[in-house]
Amino acid sequence: MGPGETEITLTINGKATKVKVETRTTLLDACRERLEITGAKRVCDRGTCGACTMIVNGKTVYGCTTLAVDNVGKKIETIENLTAGAKPHPIVPAFSNNDALQCGYCTPGMVMASKGLLDRTPNPTYDQVKAGLGGNLCRCGTYVGIRKAVLEAAKELRASGGRKSGGSNA
Ligand code: FES
Ligand code: FES
Repeated sequence: MGPGETEITLTINGKATKVKVETRTTLLDACRERLEITGAKRVCDRGTCGACTMIVNGKTVYGCTTLAVDNVGKKIETIENLTAGAKPHPIVPAFSNNDALQCGYCTPGMVMASKGLLDRTPNPTYDQVKAGLGGNLCRCGTYVGIRKAVLEAAKELRASGGRKSGGSNA
């Protein structure tokens, strides 16, 4: 591949999507700059803040530190998927119910990190939530509201028998 652009197929939110990228293009840039999938944010662009968090093959990753070409054949989920179904994933209303955001820069990444945490740990303790979101920074300091939102969403998911809503099972 390279040095020019190469067409690859990425599976994003359950949909196979063709995109032309250079080998150096990050997954975040492929989504934001080429595919208009702009939910994941670029803030630090160097693997520190978590604003670009996505879920790839069930693991939370920083979209700014993984190359698009390395994600061919993997299941990529972005925040857009959480509101793509008839009802949003419970973590979405839980953020507003718990006043879990101020400026919103960190929010898409926090929501995806929270969703990833709930996928792995459906019944987390407060300390597990705190540790599980340790890779995401909020400069406005809304951590307490975010942690409460995760616990509320966990309760909601348990009440619905773990049935997730949102879009395709990406
Ligand atoms: S923008 Fe990717 S970790 Fe900050
Ligand atoms: S709400 Fe402002 S950075 Fe988190």
